[in-house]
Amino acid sequence: MRRRSAILLMASTLLATAAWGAPPPGVDARADALVRQMTQDEKVALVSSDMPALMRSRPADAVISAGYTPGVPRLGLPSLRSTDASLGVSNIMNMRRNDVATALPSSLSLASSWDPAGARAAGAMIGAEARAKRMNVMLAGGVNLIREPRNGRNFEYPSEDPLLAGVLVGEQVAGVQSNGIISTIKHFALNAQETGRNFVDVKIDEPSARESDLLAFQIALEHGRPGSVMTAYNKVNGQYASENGWLLNDVLKRDWAFPGYVMSDWGNVHSTVPAALNGLDQQSGKTIDKAPFFAAPLAQAVAAGEVPQARLDDMARRIVRSAIAAGLLDRPDDVAQPIDFEAHARIAQAAAEAGIVLLKNEGGVLPIAATARRIVVIGGHADIGILSGGGSSQVRPVGGPALELRPNTSSPAAMFSRVTYTPSAPLAALRARFPAAEISFDDGNDPARAAALARDAEIAIVFAEEWRTEGEDRPSLALPGNADALIAAVAAANPRTVVVLETGGAVTMPWLDQVPAVVEAWYPGQRGGEAIAAILSGATAPSGRLPITFPRNETQLARPTIDGTAEVQAAAERLRGRSSYGLLTDVAPFAADYRIDGANVGYKWFAVKNETPLFPFGYGLTYTRFGYDALSVRSGRSPTARVRVTNRGRVAGVAVPQFYATVRVRGQAVPRLVGWQRVALEPGESRTVSITIDPRLLAVYDPAQPGWRIEEGRVPLVVGEHAGDAQATAELDVAARRLKP
Ligand code: BGC
Repeated sequence: MRRRSAILLMASTLLATAAWGAPPPGVDARADALVRQMTQDEKVALVSSDMPALMRSRPADAVISAGYTPGVPRLGLPSLRSTDASLGVSNIMNMRRNDVATALPSSLSLASSWDPAGARAAGAMIGAEARAKRMNVMLAGGVNLIREPRNGRNFEYPSEDPLLAGVLVGEQVAGVQSNGIISTIKHFALNAQETGRNFVDVKIDEPSARESDLLAFQIALEHGRPGSVMTAYNKVNGQYASENGWLLNDVLKRDWAFPGYVMSDWGNVHSTVPAALNGLDQQSGKTIDKAPFFAAPLAQAVAAGEVPQARLDDMARRIVRSAIAAGLLDRPDDVAQPIDFEAHARIAQAAAEAGIVLLKNEGGVLPIAATARRIVVIGGHADIGILSGGGSSQVRPVGGPALELRPNTSSPAAMFSRVTYTPSAPLAALRARFPAAEISFDDGNDPARAAALARDAEIAIVFAEEWRTEGEDRPSLALPGNADALIAAVAAANPRTVVVLETGGAVTMPWLDQVPAVVEAWYPGQRGGEAIAAILSGATAPSGRLPITFPRNETQLARPTIDGTAEVQAAAERLRGRSSYGLLTDVAPFAADYRIDGANVGYKWFAVKNETPLFPFGYGLTYTRFGYDALSVRSGRSPTARVRVTNRGRVAGVAVPQFYATVRVRGQAVPRLVGWQRVALEPGESRTVSITIDPRLLAVYDPAQPGWRIEEGRVPLVVGEHAGDAQATAELDVAARRLKP
């Protein structure tokens, strides 16, 4: 039986190579030849990694970072040195003393640009810095759908929409890999919450999974061709993602023909034989797993015939193949190089500016007039720097952190996270933009004092921050601390109050009606302060659009309370004073039922429930307005749509026309983003933009077929400025059609 499954796997690898597209010439033959020359010990050594910081004797070529796997020098295979790299080359807990890197804006910010070219440039920059630091495997490409708006890691993920997420992450991964190194995409799959992430069993039906979270991965794989896919911590339908045969063997390797290797997340391997047979190729960071499952135990399992030799060969071959395909064997990569941090900071600033979203602007409060003389800046540590998210993605920014605070929490976040500020103070940047103005600062700790200062100013700018971290979710969507009270007090004192949000996701805004202007800056990275000042002053026109829905409150969500909250709290209570929460082991099993929302993640949920959000997906203002006309569609195997966009205002601006189709999905009419363009227009300028629609976005997934099925009919299509908007409408004629998974 086991032998049969190994043979099937081998066959699927061959098939994979055919369907994945032409690899660089000779990659497969070279991989085969190399693996043939490897000894059994070398193969076993290749299928796991250690954490260099915890290794008793560290090899000379190891870099202190997330993972290290020895190479095979006699065969030209270098060691694999992996680092986190979602938002720049990370350096958590300052493991490599004072080793800094360019801090990019959060993934939400990057996605707010709706700009694939920008995502590619950001990825290329991360990859270049990593390579210069002697790393060759990037743990980048977080493409989990933002299904839970309170997820602590949403700042590491791009969107709630599979097309937007998949395209942007795919481009970013392609940018990373353009440096001749490997990138992952992660965390496969359905890792939508941090609460009890190692214990939660996600329940979902196959069509819903294929049309939502899995589709984001599928599109990212097609765009980015990452060498590796990292598994998720959670279970999916009863089986850990790291040993889930359906996810790894059936979906990823068979249906999607993925030729690279599957690595585990750190500390989420639970077995040797099931994990190996169900598709895991490498045990990452085995140092922190319960056992070195893929070291001696794997060698023994192969010797005993429990894991076929062919499967071990396949594991090794997949790793070797990705190394060859990325170019690891052809470019010496073990020599540290200088980094042009100035040039990279400019890339980070351009990304931050493109990602800032103007949510409200009444009475022309923004941009701030060049004639402004008295401005008060309040709160958010705006005198010091800008906020970043915590966890394994934490970059030690160039210049060193401006401030590091211990988080006010008893969760795992406390173990490895610090509330870290990047040294790019908005206050200094605003002073540079408005040299003739007197700009005072109040820390916002006392709302009455801040309000008194705001009363005499021409304009008050309140910075509100919301820190998120890997390891825990937000308890609610409310801004933490006194932020809501502070904003309300300042707004009551000064009608020209601008709120600048530095958040890791959607937040509620009970004061929204009281303030004329709101700007979502996310965590804007290395030059975030300068980027915010550029937008507020109008030097750069705001061009970001929300890649997620902002709900009015938690009752609008599919799960008003995050599943597992009670179970995790109970386990933490039992351990109080004895051990840290991060080592929780006895959380009672619990499930997160994703059959409730199914494929209707984000704006789709709001549409089918007829709920009005606070701000819809795709929303964002600028300092001009646009007109749309001449929408036309062409049906066919690859349907297209085009529309003319005109800048009808007096200043230049960036339009992001979005096309949504309404598809009948299991009895419901569901809107789906099917394409968009980002287009810069001078006043009065018109341009026609066109999109080609991926037929899967007009289809439903049918497991019986198996594959995608398009029903014959007329599909309504709108072009709008966000998911709740229709500037022009048309209908697509679609013919019945079936597509492979
Ligand atoms: C995270 C991964 C990360 C890994 C290595 C884990 O905690 O979930 O995203 O790549 O650590 O640092």
